[in-house]
Amino acid sequence: MSRHYLMCAPVHFDVTEKSNPWMRPDHVVDRERALSQWHTLVEVYERLGHRVSLLDPVPGLPDMVFTANGAVVVGGRAFVARFRSATRQPESAAHQRWLESTRYDVAMSEGIGEGEGDFLFTGRHVLAGTGFRTDHATHLEAQEFLGYPVISLRLADECFYHLDTALLPLDADTIAYYPGAFSAGSRRLLERLYPDALLATAEDAGHFGLNAISDGHHVVVPSDSTRFADHLRDRGYEPIPVDLSEFRASGGGPKCCTLELRPAAE
Ligand code: ARG
Repeated sequence: MSRHYLMCAPVHFDVTEKSNPWMRPDHVVDRERALSQWHTLVEVYERLGHRVSLLDPVPGLPDMVFTANGAVVVGGRAFVARFRSATRQPESAAHQRWLESTRYDVAMSEGIGEGEGDFLFTGRHVLAGTGFRTDHATHLEAQEFLGYPVISLRLADECFYHLDTALLPLDADTIAYYPGAFSAGSRRLLERLYPDALLATAEDAGHFGLNAISDGHHVVVPSDSTRFADHLRDRGYEPIPVDLSEFRASGGGPKCCTLELRPAAE
């Protein structure tokens, strides 16, 4: 099924602070390289038959390329982020304006909540991360607004600071995740909900393999996650490798650059 994604060109991409352990403010960003990798990702989606809409980049917002964090959009309702870092806070207004100008019902998060970074829709419910960025209380806000059950998961390893670095919905029934990123209780919960999940290793997760996008068959994965891609193939998915290495110095991968827009059912 064709998907609709919101993306933002990395024309102002930079690494200016260290709000996750991957961020390297000393790294000199190669913006040409970042732009070319990002364009390839857009082309990959279009080749797969998906629709890509673009958010205008705003000068002075170095992380705006990571549109996944701007909102979570389910059933025509967009729950817009409130960011933890002051640098990223102005991104919310840009998302709000864009989503309001389209056909989405928009609510701004009152508590800290970082969109699809921490809220992942599986088709049945929303799996939600807390521990580093999104406040636990924001999970209830999201549930009230989206009208889907929101299942809270506690992230326990700073390297996997957003849920989308540790867990990947593959289709309505299956997820992949890295157990080491979660608290013991959340691991038990995931085992119970998804006994057949694809378990990623520390190495897979370290290559950002879970920061991927599945349309139910194709899975767009970072090109260095070769072992994880093999596991996906064994399960009947078709991995599509993309090189987004320039974004790793900011703690980002393909999923971070992609916000899925899910309209109301027609
Ligand atoms: N530098 C960004 C941050 O720390 C990276 C965001 C990555 N996005 C994601 N969906 N995990 O906020």
